[in-house]
Amino acid sequence: MQSTGVYEPHELEQIENIAKMILQENQFRTLMAYYRSAMMEIETKFNVLNEYFSVTQDRNPIETIKSRMKSPKSIIKKLWRKELPFTVESIEKNIRDIAGVRVICAFPEDVYLLAEYLLKQDDITLVRVKDYIKNPKKTGYRSLHLIVQVPIFLANEKRMVHVEIQLRTIAMDFWASLEHKMQYKKDTLDNAQEIAEELKVCAEKITQLDQMMQNIHNRIEQKPY
Ligand code: GTP
Ligand code: MG
Repeated sequence: MQSTGVYEPHELEQIENIAKMILQENQFRTLMAYYRSAMMEIETKFNVLNEYFSVTQDRNPIETIKSRMKSPKSIIKKLWRKELPFTVESIEKNIRDIAGVRVICAFPEDVYLLAEYLLKQDDITLVRVKDYIKNPKKTGYRSLHLIVQVPIFLANEKRMVHVEIQLRTIAMDFWASLEHKMQYKKDTLDNAQEIAEELKVCAEKITQLDQMMQNIHNRIEQKPY
């Protein structure tokens, strides 16, 4: 493709692909319905595990489950950033966090227990693990990330669909939402660096707090009645 002087050939190709994608609207909507269904499957699996704990151990390890679908705008932005083609096929092949499920627990040990119980299920395929609890990000970010594939059953077929799962404690979640806000406003803040440093200190304190709460919890649970 020739350069027009206004757009680079790569950009022109992407613009053409956007036009095609608009024409592929039905296919795009169908694909999004698959991701929404996979998200529901994963949510249900965690709700079932919570129910199981509730009857066997008389406690609920999950505080909250928050699910979200990546918006079309964010999908386009990610394709653009990664210089990937703007087509429905490319979305399905390259973007694995369209369906996102965030599982928030009170205690860090439950994060690992829930991940283990989910991954043991024979219809779940583990694609990737990123353990930002054992290896926190430079920002101080902590969470256990899993990319899995879960089957969804349609009229005449079974499809394996990617879901991104983030497991974290209430304290890690509290931290991540504030840090996310900071990231979002970073360019408008003149003391962003200072805030980032303070957030790192908070992340360390939160880790200690999580550990202390876990220890207390374990002692309470083991106490003879
Ligand atoms: P992208 O999804 O392309 O960004 O890269 P990746 O697949 O390597 O993602 P990664 O597993 O590192 O993180 C994905 C998600 O985790 C992000 O969309 C955020 O929700 C969350 N996350 C990762 N790092 C941070 C961080 O430093 N701060 C906060 N608040 N959230 C983060
Ligand atoms: Mg992501």
